Amino acid sequence: MIVSRRAIGLRLRLTLIYALFCTAILAVLGIVFRGTLALTLRQNATAVLDEEWAAVKGYLRIEKQRPVWFYDRDDDEEAAIVLKFRQGLLLLADRKGAVLEVSEKYKGLGPETPAEIQALLRGSRTAVRERRDEDGFAYLIKSGTQTDDEKRPYFVAIGRNLEAEETVLDNFTRRYVSVAPVLVLAFSIASWWAAGRALAPLKSVASAAQSITGDNLGLRIDRRGANDELDGLIDSFNSMVDRLQSSFNQIRQFSTDVSHELRTPLTAIRGQLEVALMTSDSKDQYRDAMISAMEDVDRLAQVVRALLHLSQAESGQVKLAFEPVDLAVAAANIAEQFEIPAEAEKLRLAVHLEPQSAIMGDRIQLDRLLSNLLSNSIKYTPAGGSIQLNVVQRGAEVELTVADNGRGIPPEHLPHIFDRFYRVPDGHRDPDKGLGLGLSFVAWIVKAHGARIHVDSTPGQGTCFAITFAAATAPAPAISDPADVRIGV
Ligand SMILES: Nc1ncnc2c1ncn2[C@@H]1O[C@H](COP(=O)(O)OP(=O)(O)OP(=O)(O)O)[C@@H](O)[C@H]1O
Ligand SMILES: [Mg+2]
Repeated sequence: MIVSRRAIGLRLRLTLIYALFCTAILAVLGIVFRGTLALTLRQNATAVLDEEWAAVKGYLRIEKQRPVWFYDRDDDEEAAIVLKFRQGLLLLADRKGAVLEVSEKYKGLGPETPAEIQALLRGSRTAVRERRDEDGFAYLIKSGTQTDDEKRPYFVAIGRNLEAEETVLDNFTRRYVSVAPVLVLAFSIASWWAAGRALAPLKSVASAAQSITGDNLGLRIDRRGANDELDGLIDSFNSMVDRLQSSFNQIRQFSTDVSHELRTPLTAIRGQLEVALMTSDSKDQYRDAMISAMEDVDRLAQVVRALLHLSQAESGQVKLAFEPVDLAVAAANIAEQFEIPAEAEKLRLAVHLEPQSAIMGDRIQLDRLLSNLLSNSIKYTPAGGSIQLNVVQRGAEVELTVADNGRGIPPEHLPHIFDRFYRVPDGHRDPDKGLGLGLSFVAWIVKAHGARIHVDSTPGQGTCFAITFAAATAPAPAISDPADVRIGV
């Protein structure tokens, strides 16, 4: 519902913008066209008036202070022309403003006063101006001088009415004003239709998006194949759902793993307590049962602690303090701590550390990474075996390797060893010895450092974990997502 209302709002807004735009363009065009038309009409009227002026001056003489019209009286055409001038707009006055001849029409228009005539005579020789009669009709008047036989100037004015031109202009205006709204309306309807068409796929995308819920995250919106902005939006949306789906799956997997991990020790505790309750009859037996139950509780607490830490790390709540760290020094420290446990397991721990192997890293997490790898090697290498810890420089990179000649990891298990709680089953060892979280931490630390990890393992022969960091002098690498883990056998 909300979606369709929004789409209509957008459609209406687009249409209104188009309509406004169209109105503005039509208004500007109308003003420009009308102006051009008015100018052309005025130029034409002036040109005709100029011709008439020349003709009047040709026919008119002033002799003895009286106007005399000179033309061939036998020529009907000429007579008609002169009559037309005299009956049209004509005013003839002497320089004091006394009227010598004035046509009826000019009288209607209102002849100039003597003062005006004197002013016009003093000014430019000819002048063209527009005048309006009482009824508002416009006339174009051209005035100037005509000299008599004694070279005295007289005032002459002729004119034409501009009714035809005004009518043309009025017609144009009326038609334009009546057609423009129709055009705006037609354009608005077309815009409404076009905006509707453009927004229709958006509506279908929105309703498809609405149908995606936590239960059917597998649904994807189909691309339209137009490779346009909308397809780009659909792609982004689909990849967002991809990411959501993988997060959802991770969370689901996580809850399954956690409940599974917690169930085993809880069942064991309950079993031990039940057996003790039913069969124990001495204080010592109860005591043994409680000690065993406490061990399981400790393990539970350990799992919960580790999980909390891991989820904090993976959700970005653990802030890393990056600083230049000499990996050789860090490795030497950890190796020292592991000397005694290695000896206890009758293992030889050899180190080859190239000094000044500086990387940018968080010291605490790097120590944890080294501890996890070394403790795994010690745990999974039988007595008499050896462990090799190396830090070497390779160009702009520093490589850390932890290799052992222990039991190795079967190839079918290799892809899973970084998963939470994943432990390779081993008949000989107590399956509960590790939590299966150590390598999950390693994978996160590698990712957080923008490093790469590679595992080589041959069952019965040994395992080698190799991690490649960018050297501190090289530009910091972009953190890859997910952790760049390569597994080899
Ligand atoms: N060096 C190794 N040699 C042989 N197997 C190994 C080695 N390192 C890891 N593995 C296998 O990978 C599994 C996962 O290792 P990880 O460190 O995540 O868990 P863990 O050692 O079992 O428990 P945790 O480290 O949480 O106490 C181990 O259970 C083991 O089977
Ligand atoms: Mg481990």
